[in-house]
Amino acid sequence: MKYSIKNICCIGAGYVGGPTMAVIASHCPNIQINVIDINEERIKAWNDENLNNLPIFEPGLESLIRKCRNKNLHFSCNVQKHIANADMIFISVNTPTKEKGLGSGQAIDLKWIDSTARQISKYARGKTIVVEKSTLPVKTAKTIKEILGSKNLPKKQFKTQDSEFVVLSNPEFLAEGTAIKNLQKPDRVLIGGEELEAIEALSKIYSHWIEKEKIITTNLWSAELSKLTANAFLAQRISSINSISALCEATGADINEVALAIGTDQRIGKEFLKSGPGFGGSCFKKDILNLIYLCNYYGLKEVSDYWQKVLDLNDWQTRRISKTVVEKLFGTISGKKIAILGFSFKANTNDTRESPAIKICRELLEEGGKISIYDPKVSLNQIKSDLGLEKYNLNNSFDGSWKFENSIIEASRNADAIILVTEWEEFNQIDWDKISKVMRHPAWLFDTRSFKNTYKANYYGIRVWKLGNGLEE
Ligand code: NAD
Ligand code: UGA
Repeated sequence: MKYSIKNICCIGAGYVGGPTMAVIASHCPNIQINVIDINEERIKAWNDENLNNLPIFEPGLESLIRKCRNKNLHFSCNVQKHIANADMIFISVNTPTKEKGLGSGQAIDLKWIDSTARQISKYARGKTIVVEKSTLPVKTAKTIKEILGSKNLPKKQFKTQDSEFVVLSNPEFLAEGTAIKNLQKPDRVLIGGEELEAIEALSKIYSHWIEKEKIITTNLWSAELSKLTANAFLAQRISSINSISALCEATGADINEVALAIGTDQRIGKEFLKSGPGFGGSCFKKDILNLIYLCNYYGLKEVSDYWQKVLDLNDWQTRRISKTVVEKLFGTISGKKIAILGFSFKANTNDTRESPAIKICRELLEEGGKISIYDPKVSLNQIKSDLGLEKYNLNNSFDGSWKFENSIIEASRNADAIILVTEWEEFNQIDWDKISKVMRHPAWLFDTRSFKNTYKANYYGIRVWKLGNGLEE
């Protein structure tokens, strides 16, 4: 075989790079894996003795780190050394939406991909397989290849021998909160490429724990486009069910009953039909924006308009939560205390990127509300940075203020309303009798995630509004 993979380097120690490499390391003890990042703080946290301080929270991650770290899994900032030693390099860097310049607000900002490709071109030696793990616009492999093959870069002075590259696309489909489970038992692994032996080398790594039938191989562009399409389809289902949730509220139907009824049709399927405050997370929005940008670039306006609607509906769904809260609280929340339970974009992660909680809090602050926030995994500093402390303190043009609390009961004390934003399991265990006693009455509960136990709040004197449920309690 042309390739023998003994050393892997993963560039980017984030939500994808860290867990993915931990799972590969645990199944491939004979491969040395170095995960590198330019963010020193992040690398320090990955190397922290205390596993509670790992930079990301994912169920099952700690035990893998305990098993592999400093054996065949290493975290480092030494970019040059680990790129030079690698037989295979995964690119796992961030690919956010561009904030300025050409295509801003839609196109992907490829500056991290560009600089990563330049680092690889500069430091890699010998035959190296470069794997796109980040989600990328279709045709990015062409750009990467051009950068890697560029003769203008000061290659020679850094190299002891010539380098040769092959680029594969191997998009990641893990979801946060279930990353380790998804990596251990994926629905499929997708590998796009042009060189059969390189594809085989990557397949061989996955075949340590994944059945051969689940490893799909395609051409490069199909693999890149499939990732964007998968996210667009998933987001579209959420917008579809959320659109019906509003109709349920208007008519007396119940969105969970509707979801159950339609989901049993195998052609529709039961997954991803949970109505909520709108999808968050770092990827759905930016990947659909990217799809929209690509469609416009290729002159497909009708297609781009179609996907834009998925985003518009999502935005509307989140905004109608704060609007409903203000309406139910007699048209004003000025000076009223509102507890936000859950700040991460979904349960079992500390990630707050594009969390609906951010938008909801901002809107309530603009209405003059006093917000108390509790989340089991999100830190005060993270919330500060998401809400912008300077903008939303007491001495500015808004009346609103916010406070971080360490428990559900403290967040709820004297609150006029509670909003359940994230579906953390501990919210299912809330003792509504106890909570009702510390709230200010008339008290409201806004349940945006269809918790099973919230009907009990009504029994203890709290008025309950459930998203997607037309029968107000
Ligand atoms: P992240 O922001 O958590 O991590 C990216 C890391 O790359 C950062 O720590 C950053 O410092 C580092 N980095 C950037 N440029 C670098 C460079 N030149 N050298 C070394 N390190 C560099 O991002 P993420 O959530 O892990 O996402 C990474 C990619 O994977 C994105 O394209 C995303 O769309 C995709 N993806 C994410 C998920 C998810 O659940 N988060 C799932 C599937 C795919
Ligand atoms: C999503 C995809 O599920 C992954 O396959 C993909 O790899 C990843 O994006 C990515 O490319 O980053 P993630 O965003 O981590 O994963 O989490 P999801 O479980 O998809 O949830 C996204 C958002 O949709 C959350 O805010 C969640 O609460 C919401 N959601 C999800 C619903 O409102 N209803 C549902 O039925 C499912």
